[in-house]
Amino acid sequence: MRPPPLPTSSLADAFGRPLRDLRISVTDRCNLRCTYCMPAEVFGPDYAFLPRSELLTFEEIERLAAAFVALGVQKLRLTGGEPLLRRDLPELVARLTRLEGVQDIALTTNGLLLPRLAAPLKAAGLQRVTVSIDSLDPDIFGRMNGLGTHPDRVLDGIEAALQAGLGVKVNTVVQRGVNDAGLRDLWLALRDKAVVRFIEFMDVGNHNGWNMAAVVPSREVLARLSEDGLGSEFAPAQANYRGEVAARHRGAQGHEVGLISSVTAPFCGDCSRARLSAVGMLYTCLFAGTGTDLRAPLRAGATEEEVRAQIAGVWRVRRDRYSEERGEVTTRQKIEMSHIGG
Ligand code: GTP
Ligand code: 5AD
Ligand code: SF4
Ligand code: SF4
Repeated sequence: MRPPPLPTSSLADAFGRPLRDLRISVTDRCNLRCTYCMPAEVFGPDYAFLPRSELLTFEEIERLAAAFVALGVQKLRLTGGEPLLRRDLPELVARLTRLEGVQDIALTTNGLLLPRLAAPLKAAGLQRVTVSIDSLDPDIFGRMNGLGTHPDRVLDGIEAALQAGLGVKVNTVVQRGVNDAGLRDLWLALRDKAVVRFIEFMDVGNHNGWNMAAVVPSREVLARLSEDGLGSEFAPAQANYRGEVAARHRGAQGHEVGLISSVTAPFCGDCSRARLSAVGMLYTCLFAGTGTDLRAPLRAGATEEEVRAQIAGVWRVRRDRYSEERGEVTTRQKIEMSHIGG
């Protein structure tokens, strides 16, 4: 089943892929230390996070987002690090919501600060959040998040988001021998409240010790979620939009589950995502090694037209398809997940 094509845009990359989504990282800091993202051994007390002066201001983010929207971006997603750590985030949401042409604005968070921020974010115009939680078992979750943080704190965040009227999706990164035994419990506990998505452990950044043996292929996840252990109760559902990252499935009782299979079923062919780091670097792939500085021209007085031309120039020559090449490329130095924004 193929979703309907998006309207054609004049801006396409070297493989004909349009620019539709912008993921904006607003900070490189996080209040967790997930082993697969910001392992505590690397991101310890002496780790040099970005000073505030380096970060794009809200005004700069708004100007850059406007340039992307003028080039065809319809969907914005705020990420980090942990985006809720960025002071006054609702103010940024309010600015971005006002941009004409934006059809969807979302936020990916670990949920810990949602009890305080869900209502102000909703009031600022945010429609939905995606909350990460990898296990309901306190020991397993505590180990995976690197700080011993209890899963109830994330569940409280999910409740706060629902109370505030935000749509909620849940992201669970699956690692073999770590949290794979508890997937069905997690699915049963959360499926009535949120769309749960299971993500194959990926080789993002340079420090997470990724290896193929730790990846649980999505078809196995589906089997583990189902009562019969075979996955037969799940049927594929049509994608919500072309290039959707999660492959949607529906269980016997109608619940939706998403499978994000960057390793076993890469989705680069439809990838329409650009990423803007907290310091204004533009990356055209999650696994990029290099990017383009948009902050420097902005701070040197470039007009929006000039910034647009620069972004378009980068997008037109884009040839990224890392997940499809993964088998071939093993030694690339990549930008860290906390910097590029996931
Ligand atoms: P929806 O708008 O709800 O469909 O969001 P999303 O699934 O695009 O965003 P989210 O931030 O929840 O990302 C889910 C997972 O997919 C995370 O682990 C991301 O790192 C991963 N992901 C998102 N975009 C890409 C991508 O372009 N390539 C790869 N390989 N992984 C991606
Ligand atoms: N593999 C898969 N997903 C990851 N995320 C962070 N690091 C990895 C990884 N190595 C997920 C987070 C969050 C989303 C932005 O990316 O759990 O849900
Ligand atoms: Fe923080 Fe999210 Fe990375 Fe975990 S995955 S360390 S919560 S940014
Ligand atoms: Fe897009 Fe790169 Fe992810 Fe492929 S690996 S889907 S090109 S971000």
